[in-house]
Amino acid sequence: MARLATRLALVSPAAIVEAARTLRSGGLVAFPTETVYGLGADATNGEAIARLYAAKGRPSFNPLIAHVLDEPAARALARFDGAAEILATFWPGPLTLVLPRTPTCPVAELATAGLDTIAVRAPSHPVARDLLAAFGGPIVAPSANRSGHVSPTTAQHVLADLGGDIDLVLDGGPTPVGLESTIVACLGGAPTLLRLGGLARTDIERALGHPLEVVRSAPAPDKEAPLAPGMLASHYAPRARLRLAATSVRPGEALLAFGAPLPGAQQVLNLSERGDLVEAAANLFSHLRALDAAGAAVIAVMPIPHEGLGEAINDRLARAAAPRL
Ligand code: TXA
Ligand code: MG
Repeated sequence: MARLATRLALVSPAAIVEAARTLRSGGLVAFPTETVYGLGADATNGEAIARLYAAKGRPSFNPLIAHVLDEPAARALARFDGAAEILATFWPGPLTLVLPRTPTCPVAELATAGLDTIAVRAPSHPVARDLLAAFGGPIVAPSANRSGHVSPTTAQHVLADLGGDIDLVLDGGPTPVGLESTIVACLGGAPTLLRLGGLARTDIERALGHPLEVVRSAPAPDKEAPLAPGMLASHYAPRARLRLAATSVRPGEALLAFGAPLPGAQQVLNLSERGDLVEAAANLFSHLRALDAAGAAVIAVMPIPHEGLGEAINDRLARAAAPRL
């Protein structure tokens, strides 16, 4: 693919106007959401979406999330059942709903990989919302990393992965949640948890009044299109090998700490010194990238409590530690 001169723009009203114009002309714009940076394209423009898949190096069976301002805008794309109506009360926020496509849904087939369902989300980040308002239609956006890499939580992460392959990066600083959205499918039957993420499972279950069905195991990579390819075993991969639930540091290992750090590591980054899971989620991907960039061959990871956002953090760590495809 021809190299582009990727522009990095600090967020400003003029930058939002430029970003919306770039999307309208079929370009690719990375922008911050409250979860991670997304790589946006006009959801109705099949050519722009083809370019997006190429820039990410993403297998084209992996469908994209359509971002909208609110539930009324989502209803132009998808059908809501009772559970979906309840879950839409978490919008704007870090929750994606997989719903049946409406017959008149204007999103290009390529974005939904030919499925009769569509993933929709109303993000809460003010920059994402300003961009959606200025653009005036749905924006499809996967995480703005090269396929298989750790998701980007800063504009610099985006440039490191996709610089030269996209038109514009809107720099709105580090993303506050730091984990991708939680994905729930509401397709008429019991709502199903497809991906753990930035909205804790317990919050969703409290709103629904019952436990979620869970898609547990990652599908084998050679099987047909998985339900949520974010579930592929080694999807969130740093270069370094991860050793999870470490209770000591072995010679040469870097340490990804949580709470009071274990002794003995030369390189230490702490997800949260005070043991806060929200802070840990926000730091997870940038700390993995930083330890990777520092050349660590093995990263020992201290145990993370399996509650609240800890469940999603442990999910991403397990995937990052899984053998590569
Ligand atoms: O927080 C997020 O969700 C970020 C920001 C940018 O919104 N986006 C993100 O997109 O993480 P992506 O493409 O990296 O992950 C979206 C996941 C993929 O695993 C995809 O397979 C799944 O959503 N997905 C999309 N459409 C689907 C559908 N119709 N049925 C099942 N899974 C779907
Ligand atoms: Mg992704």
